[in-house]
Amino acid sequence: MRRIGISTGGGDAPGLNAVIRAAVKTAINDHGYEVMGIRNGLDGLFEPGGVFSLTLKDVRGILPLGGTILGSANRGNPFVRKAIIDGEEVVEDITDSYIERIQLLGLEALILIGGDGTLAIAQTLAKRGIKVVGVPKTIDNDVGGTDTTFGFDTAVNIATEAIDRLHTTAESHHRVMILELMGRDAGFIALNAGLAGGADVILIPEIPFNFEVICRKIQQRVARGSKFSIISTAEGAHPEGGQKVYKRAADAAYVARLGGIGQVVGKFVESMCGAETRVTVLGHLQRGGTPTAFDRWLATCYGSDAVRLIAHGRFGRMVALKGRRFTSVKLEDALKTPKRVDLQGDTIQTAKALGICMGNDLD
Ligand code: F6P
Repeated sequence: MRRIGISTGGGDAPGLNAVIRAAVKTAINDHGYEVMGIRNGLDGLFEPGGVFSLTLKDVRGILPLGGTILGSANRGNPFVRKAIIDGEEVVEDITDSYIERIQLLGLEALILIGGDGTLAIAQTLAKRGIKVVGVPKTIDNDVGGTDTTFGFDTAVNIATEAIDRLHTTAESHHRVMILELMGRDAGFIALNAGLAGGADVILIPEIPFNFEVICRKIQQRVARGSKFSIISTAEGAHPEGGQKVYKRAADAAYVARLGGIGQVVGKFVESMCGAETRVTVLGHLQRGGTPTAFDRWLATCYGSDAVRLIAHGRFGRMVALKGRRFTSVKLEDALKTPKRVDLQGDTIQTAKALGICMGNDLD
């Protein structure tokens, strides 16, 4: 019996369990494969009980569950290890030990489910001869080669509900309410939720903002009788000529963590625009809980497609959605250019047409 492995890496996203379920069912029912779950990203390869047989029973009832039954790891590149040699900190490349474990376990092919970090790991393994297929996951929707990653739709829905709820206090107290949303260096969540929730100002990393322009918008609204405003800001948004705001810097093993731009904008709005302001950071609520129907559908099709890629011997590829068609792209093509908000695209055009302030003078 052919044996394949499956693992989930990076930050959790709604729909991970739906991918696992679809992959296991397709692999067992359609192809007669044995599926081995690898726990905690690829860390499970080295942990006692970290690699285990996934049966149909294991995936029963997990379709609507958030998180991942396999666990995940979100600390950057697992192929590097810090060590102290002769009193000096050095970074060792330990890719070989991963490859040895994969071979020793008889894993003929791997399905790696994750964002750009995990897909880069997949590409490294593919280059070293491991048969890998990637599945694009992330609430940020920033993976190239596909129109949509699973998890994004759920995050946008949660963020939209948050904007709806913030409207209540904004209107009642005549305040500016700022919502800081995830997305790393891409503004998709803040933009789509901002549009869906009727935000007055949307700040995204792709459009550096100008404080005065934001102030003008808020004051214009007041002059026209709307004494409140809602600002939807991406965590990666930043002022023209200014820096992104980080909670923690990157180091050899960890990726940098964004966070705090909401407070920066809030302080400015309160002191310079004369508006009472509150800031909400939605944080990991955007990643938690049950996936939307769209994400369940997308994740299910992705999981099943990933197994079909293996069955057809099409390795080093990532499943993708283009328009209404499921397809696949080479991992290297998916990773070449990270996806960002298209400034000439329909969503930006619409936001401007509706009078939403995008934080710059072009509004
Ligand atoms: O990539 C998904 C994401 O949620 C980003 O939007 C966010 O910047 C980051 O992960 C947070 O990572 P962590 O859960 O490790 O704090």
